[in-house]
Amino acid sequence: MYSSGMQIAIIGTGNVGGALARAWTRAGHRIFLGARNLQDQKVLSLTAGGTQITAHTPAEAVNAAETVLFAIPPNALRQVLDTLGDLTGKVLIDATNSVRAKAGEFASVAEALLSWTKSTDVVKCFNTTGFNVMENPKFDGVAADMFMAGSSSRAKEIARQLARDAGFAECYDLGGDERFPLLESLAAIWIDLAMVQGQGRNIAFKLLKR
Ligand SMILES: NC(=O)c1ccc[n+]([C@@H]2O[C@H](COP(=O)([O-])OP(=O)(O)OC[C@H]3O[C@@H](n4cnc5c(N)ncnc54)[C@H](OP(=O)(O)O)[C@@H]3O)[C@@H](O)[C@H]2O)c1
Repeated sequence: MYSSGMQIAIIGTGNVGGALARAWTRAGHRIFLGARNLQDQKVLSLTAGGTQITAHTPAEAVNAAETVLFAIPPNALRQVLDTLGDLTGKVLIDATNSVRAKAGEFASVAEALLSWTKSTDVVKCFNTTGFNVMENPKFDGVAADMFMAGSSSRAKEIARQLARDAGFAECYDLGGDERFPLLESLAAIWIDLAMVQGQGRNIAFKLLKR
């Protein structure tokens, strides 16, 4: 149903936003970057490659899209939302982690999105691996897995499709909104292995089955 040609706004054009913009463009999606500085070097280099990625104010980007990815520091969320207008009917994807900063009193940006916006289609996804893996999920020909949670089946259908389009093998559904903390914990494990235990950024989770 959502196989190609989605209109996606990306709020936060840093490591994660940039990696997913490039990955989704390769799959045929149209990306509207929402940037606070349209002359930023990262924004200019993302838009230099053609017409599939364009840069706008965050409000313009969201207005043009049906799906919105949040890839900002959580403590910037309140301020960013105040510039975006009505998000009713949009699918909101939370790719953030609240390890270092939080959105108000919320343990997860996904919870804050449910409380602070009128969208009921919120999914947490793309937070459990590094931006470098999102740009290329293949490890010696084997694709890493992605994980998601949220109570909107519509939002999860889109997130699963976007994970596959980025090259992940599968996007496992960990449950409803009450499972957001599991994804924060899984991200904390990735960060610990990569940064504290010294495994480096080229690691990812994969479910083995037999
Ligand atoms: N790095 C990873 O591998 C990784 C993986 C999974 C999840 N995450 C999570 O994803 C989120 C983003 O991480 P990142 O590494 O992509 O960060 P990043 O490279 O620092 O990018 C953050 C983006 O947010 C924007 N931003 C910051 N403060 C803002 C504000 N007050 N208003 C509007 N925009 C603002 C920045 O804009 P400017 O460019 O104008 O400064 C930048 O585009 C974090 O929650 C992180 O925990 C990161």
